Amino acid sequence: MPDTLSIKSSKITYQVQFKDDFATTLAEHIQPGDHIVVDANILELYQDRIAPLLDSVQHTVINPSEDQKSYQAITSFIENLLETGFRKNNRLFAIGGGITQDIVAFTASIMFRGVNWIFYPTTLLAQCDSCIGSKTSINFGVYKNQLGGFYPPSEIIIDLSFLDTLSSLDLRSGMGEMLHYFLVSGEEDFQRICNEYDAAMKDKNVLRGLVFHSLDFKRGFAERDEFDQGPRNVFNYGHSFGHAIESITQYRIPHGIAVSFGMDIANGISAKLGLITEEERLRIRPILEKNWGDIRLDEVTVDNMLEALSKDKKNVGNQINVILTRGLGDMFKSPLDVTDDTRQWLSDILDTMK
Ligand SMILES: NC(=O)c1ccc[n+]([C@@H]2O[C@H](COP(=O)([O-])OP(=O)(O)OC[C@H]3O[C@@H](n4cnc5c(N)ncnc54)[C@H](O)[C@@H]3O)[C@@H](O)[C@H]2O)c1
Ligand SMILES: [Zn+2]
Repeated sequence: MPDTLSIKSSKITYQVQFKDDFATTLAEHIQPGDHIVVDANILELYQDRIAPLLDSVQHTVINPSEDQKSYQAITSFIENLLETGFRKNNRLFAIGGGITQDIVAFTASIMFRGVNWIFYPTTLLAQCDSCIGSKTSINFGVYKNQLGGFYPPSEIIIDLSFLDTLSSLDLRSGMGEMLHYFLVSGEEDFQRICNEYDAAMKDKNVLRGLVFHSLDFKRGFAERDEFDQGPRNVFNYGHSFGHAIESITQYRIPHGIAVSFGMDIANGISAKLGLITEEERLRIRPILEKNWGDIRLDEVTVDNMLEALSKDKKNVGNQINVILTRGLGDMFKSPLDVTDDTRQWLSDILDTMK
């Protein structure tokens, strides 16, 4: 399998490189004037390898919470960059998961009308998905991911050994995000992830194959539809329901786990509408169920789910926009009328998740 993947964006062509020893690469990479932004937990866990590098450059330690990933909280980061002499030709290095990524990418896009940033993703979710695709999103107070743009890093270094310290829940969150790409891709990739799921949890070589494939699949869409004008819509499969679950549970359930539930809900509604057979839905469910494991949706009801869905800015009146499926590899965006029938369907499906 290749070690690198190139992604074309309107701004630059950038590369993802798989490396075994992030600290050596980082030491070679870093130049005077650059600024490292590191997740506090990563700094603690990898102190011996990261701390020596922080002696030579300015750095910021991020507390990885949604509060920190906000317009309000990044002002002190920007102030610090300006006060410590950060210039347009210097670069920002992000070491962490999606939260660190979004803070750094957003800041890089607005500092001096744009500075280069380099990403060392440390969660499976960031490695298999969010590191490419250019999106930057930050929160505005309680409004999640409402500010942002499209601003890719100039380079991405993936070291899978970071995942040795990741919690099982966050690992499964990343697997959930991968599952969604493999199901959107079609039957062959569905079979592959079903066959390789267990091995990938133990064997980095197997996992690396899945991560590479996930990124490569996303790359095709990101290059065709960098600014999310249409084709990338299919990647919202499982996400409308998933976002509702995240918000109802106040982010107790991580993104990729919520998306695993969300895909099963989308399949359930597709089956009720006759778009897929009940057998097909039940054939796909076990891998999703394995991924959400012992997590339950006790506090999710038809009412709070519909309320969360109706807050989605894309939805109007008594209709919600969701991604449904006619089968693996055939997802499509569709309005769904909220009727007594749909309420009953949703209630039946949610009952299987409690
Ligand atoms: N911009 C995008 O395209 C995009 C896409 C998807 C998600 N996101 C955003 O990403 C965020 C979620 O990101 P995430 O799931 O990558 O996680 P995260 O950044 O929220 O980190 C999750 C937890 O794992 C810890 N952690 C990170 N790496 C670790 C490691 N190797 N070992 C031990 N602990 C580690 C962190 O300290 C944190 O406590 C959300 O804010 C979401 O909105 C952005
Ligand atoms: Zn996602």
